[in-house]
Amino acid sequence: MMNHSQSTGADYNYTIVRQFALTTVLWGIVGMAVGVLIAAQLIWPQLNFETPWLTFSRLRPLHTNAVIFAFGTSALFATSYYVVQRTCQIRLFAPKLAAFTFWGWQAVIIAAAITLPMGYTQGKEYAELEWPIDIAIAVIWVSYAIVFFGTIAKRTTSHIYVANWFFGAFIITVAVLHIVNSMAVPVSLFKSYSLYSGAVDAMVQWWYGHNAVGFLLTAGFLGMMYYFVPKQAGRPVYSYRLSIVHFWALIALYIWAGPHHLHYTALPDWTQSLGMVMSLILFAPSWGGMINGIMTLSGAWHKLRTDPVLRFLVVSLSFYGMSTFEGPMMAIKTVNALSHYTDWTVGHVHSGALGWVAMVSIGSLYHLVPVLFGHGRMYSTSLVNVHFWLATIGTVLYIVSMWISGVMQGLMWRAVNSDGTLTYSFVESLEASYPFYFVRFLGGCFFLTGMLIMAYNVLRTVKAPKESLPALAEA
Ligand code: HEM
Ligand code: HEM
Repeated sequence: MMNHSQSTGADYNYTIVRQFALTTVLWGIVGMAVGVLIAAQLIWPQLNFETPWLTFSRLRPLHTNAVIFAFGTSALFATSYYVVQRTCQIRLFAPKLAAFTFWGWQAVIIAAAITLPMGYTQGKEYAELEWPIDIAIAVIWVSYAIVFFGTIAKRTTSHIYVANWFFGAFIITVAVLHIVNSMAVPVSLFKSYSLYSGAVDAMVQWWYGHNAVGFLLTAGFLGMMYYFVPKQAGRPVYSYRLSIVHFWALIALYIWAGPHHLHYTALPDWTQSLGMVMSLILFAPSWGGMINGIMTLSGAWHKLRTDPVLRFLVVSLSFYGMSTFEGPMMAIKTVNALSHYTDWTVGHVHSGALGWVAMVSIGSLYHLVPVLFGHGRMYSTSLVNVHFWLATIGTVLYIVSMWISGVMQGLMWRAVNSDGTLTYSFVESLEASYPFYFVRFLGGCFFLTGMLIMAYNVLRTVKAPKESLPALAEA
């Protein structure tokens, strides 16, 4: 990897990176606070306050949209704009268009935050937003692609660093997924009907849904990993060859795996089996990426003792490995017969979402913020450490409680008496889930507290006089 850590950055466009980095923290807090609220509503339904726009059904999509598209995607915007400039050693292409992507994206987030609680929705998971907002997203995304690929085209380096391959694949694929899945016939300003119907609609939706996971929540964050892990560890990527092999394998396989969301449905059976097999094979490139990231620490393991930022990055890779082992397992039809509809799925989601997506973003931001604001380190390294433990304990509480309640629910629902009647009613399974919902709520509070500490630490770093926070001497 190129060594330009001495660069002052004066010749790069850091304004846009700073804006997206700071809004990542803000939207992370908002999205996760809504997550904690809906987790609480599942224990104490009175928290709906008998107000339509505060009900679980409306706040749940607000949570998923806020964490994925406001928090996660802002982190991707910030890091991709930073990485593409640093590794291509050139200023960002079309700075005005880049500024448009920032303000446009904030407008989309605000529009989502207003329309979702009001109940405007297309009813497609992770693609709830109504058609005018969808059109705005498409325009902003194409602008993003022009800025990103324009910068690559203008680069002064001979090769394209692997992180940019992942960011590039994420940008192109998300554009295609969003445009195809959002095709709809508008009937009014806030109501439209999908162009597809029946099983085709379901297939298109989960082709979109799974690849939103594969390209937004995975490929984009792998791009982040390929830049920030070597930087923070001070080591080159373990194997450049492995990074290329697992890149092509990952993008070739992910696109086929969507039907594992539709096992035992009206979708043709062979399609389900194909989705299952592709998901099982997907395990290999996923672990290729995870191993490549973790092995980058060869010769730098001792840094984990003193560097909480590196700890965030390495633990995120461990959760990535865990969720990409669990995912293929859940894609096996017989396992899915138990896990589907239960909290096991929700646990899997958050081992990826909190453990991987949030942790790798947080680690990258802790690397990035001091650089962007002209410091050698964050205002307080011990607060980064406190955040690390809150995030790790919060994630573990969340996913372990959901595993237990998920498997328990699945087993209770399928238990039958000798005369063929069901052993448990649905309400009994719900009552048995309450203690685990409480543990999940606690886990969420831990994670959210960590984010609030991060906001404080980031603000103090931003406000500190230039060069007043010199890098810590290496232990
Ligand atoms: C403080 C942290 C968080 C808490 C307390 C939390 C809580 C929740 C709750 C209670 C649900 C609804 C589960 C259900 O319907 O039974 C949910 C769903 C979801 N959350 Fe979170 N969440 C948090 C962070 C995140 C983050 C950071 C992401 C993504 C980057 C995320 C992505 C999702 C997704 C995709 C779903 C839908 C899952 C599904 O349909 O199976 N969450 N969350
Ligand atoms: C090899 C990798 C992976 C495979 C094969 C896989 C497979 C699966 C399977 C089988 C389900 C359950 C579908 C159902 O029963 O409805 C699922 C759900 C889900 N997974 Fe994964 N997973 C993988 C990695 C990840 C990662 C890294 C994330 C990152 C955050 C993630 C996010 C999700 C989400 C959000 C859902 C819930 C979708 C919904 O029903 O709303 N997955 N995954």
